Amino acid sequence: MAKSFLLLLLFLGMVGLSLNDNTDPLVPALYIFGDSTFDVGTNNFLSDSKAKADYKYYGIDFPNSEATGRFSNGYNTADYVAKLLGFDLSPPPFFYLAQNDSNHFKSEILKGVNFASAGSGLQDNTGKDLFTKVIAMGEQIQQFASVQGNISEYLNDTAEARVKNSLFLFSVGSNDIFEFFAANPSANDTQIQLFLNTLITTYETHLENVVKLGARKLGIVSVPPIGCVPVLRLKNAIQNFECVNGLNAFALAFQTALETLLQNLKSQWPDLNYSLGKSFELTITMIHNPRLKEVRSACCGNSSATLRAKIDCGPNTELCENRRKYLFWDSHHPTDAASKLAALTLVTGGPEFVTPTNFSLLVLPS
Ligand SMILES: *[C@@H]1O[C@H](CO)[C@@H](O)[C@H](O)[C@H]1NC(C)=O
Ligand SMILES: *[C@@H]1O[C@H](CO)[C@@H](O)[C@H](O)[C@H]1NC(C)=O
Ligand SMILES: *[C@@H]1O[C@H](CO)[C@@H](O)[C@H](O)[C@H]1NC(C)=O
Ligand SMILES: *[C@@H]1O[C@H](CO)[C@@H](O)[C@H](O)[C@H]1NC(C)=O
Ligand SMILES: *[C@@H]1O[C@H](CO)[C@@H](O)[C@H](O)[C@H]1NC(C)=O
Ligand SMILES: *[C@@H]1O[C@H](CO)[C@@H](O)[C@H](O)[C@H]1NC(C)=O
Ligand SMILES: *[C@@H]1O[C@H](CO)[C@@H](O)[C@H](O)[C@H]1NC(C)=O
Repeated sequence: MAKSFLLLLLFLGMVGLSLNDNTDPLVPALYIFGDSTFDVGTNNFLSDSKAKADYKYYGIDFPNSEATGRFSNGYNTADYVAKLLGFDLSPPPFFYLAQNDSNHFKSEILKGVNFASAGSGLQDNTGKDLFTKVIAMGEQIQQFASVQGNISEYLNDTAEARVKNSLFLFSVGSNDIFEFFAANPSANDTQIQLFLNTLITTYETHLENVVKLGARKLGIVSVPPIGCVPVLRLKNAIQNFECVNGLNAFALAFQTALETLLQNLKSQWPDLNYSLGKSFELTITMIHNPRLKEVRSACCGNSSATLRAKIDCGPNTELCENRRKYLFWDSHHPTDAASKLAALTLVTGGPEFVTPTNFSLLVLPS
């Protein structure tokens, strides 16, 4: 099973991405929420934000080597999920549609909007000290509420069905967790459990709000083993740069609690369908994927003796030789190659990686 799945990934990786021979996408629209893992340029519109990727070497493998604001050398996971479902790439940022492309606002929002903002979290304050300005999940959902109002106005009685059949993607939580453990390095078990409860309750409120606005297909990507990102591995320099266990244990507990949350949500809203992408297992499997030769060090940054994670990726840093063989692009984020593998797993993977169904089953009209 695991072996044939790996072969499928290899095969899809070679033929290029498409599960869909038709020109029409498999869902009417994609509405995308989250942090830097999904941001496709939102933060470029926040002049005060310090969480930006609008300079080289970001985007070096994007068409025209353009630094679009994606925290990747090329595309990110949101783009690859979109491609697999028949879109060209992720829909544009909300601010782009509202401010720069208002002539096409109407037709574009019917196909999707990306609200994700790097540095943001589930909680309103996450990222705001560190990065000055980010769009928190609650604000992202308010932006969607106004878009939903616009859609209802344009489509009248067919708006509801369109939103219901659209896919809502979420990838959020890592920044809340990074900040909590940075601020409370010696938190005890009781405090950690309280924090987990707070995060899950907050996530539940956000998801209830999009469901109340008409969403019925949720694709949720949990948090990866964040103790394995290069900047955290630095803490274990004397132990061969191994992953930081405490953060990984929390990430796994978060994922487990998220699964229960989604089961509860489904029992309250029986016509709701969801897929939970288990980033924990997905990433651990990638760490052992022989196609990725370097899974500890970042590709872009200084210097290789410190996993290129001590000095952030920028125009005056080193660049690794074979970007396709790296799991991490910078101190925190996956490469284009890893994002592509992750998206393939979310869309076509088995129940050990995405539960109760993968995204390609989730998007079937019900
Ligand atoms: C959006 O428009 C502003 C003002 O015209 C411009 O400076 C900016 O580069 C545009 N952004 C994008 C992503 O096109
Ligand atoms: C979309 O909805 C918002 C909030 O109701 C409104 O302010 C805005 O004018 C609408 N945009 C368009 C293009 O209709
Ligand atoms: C929506 O309803 C309004 C008034 O009720 C009507 O003028 C408009 O033509 C309708 N639009 C569509 C797309 O059906
Ligand atoms: C955990 O820390 C809090 C705050 O310092 C304290 O009130 C509580 O008693 C501690 N709990 C345990 C089990 O140590
Ligand atoms: C990165 O290291 C190179 C030498 O390998 C050096 O020239 C450069 O200034 C360093 N960049 C930064 C931002 O420290
Ligand atoms: C993923 O979903 C497809 C439906 O599109 C299904 O046929 C397939 O069995 C699923 N993959 C796995 C590995 O379970
Ligand atoms: C969606 O939920 C309905 C109601 O529980 C169920 O019958 C259907 O099989 C689900 N669809 C998918 C794709 O999981």
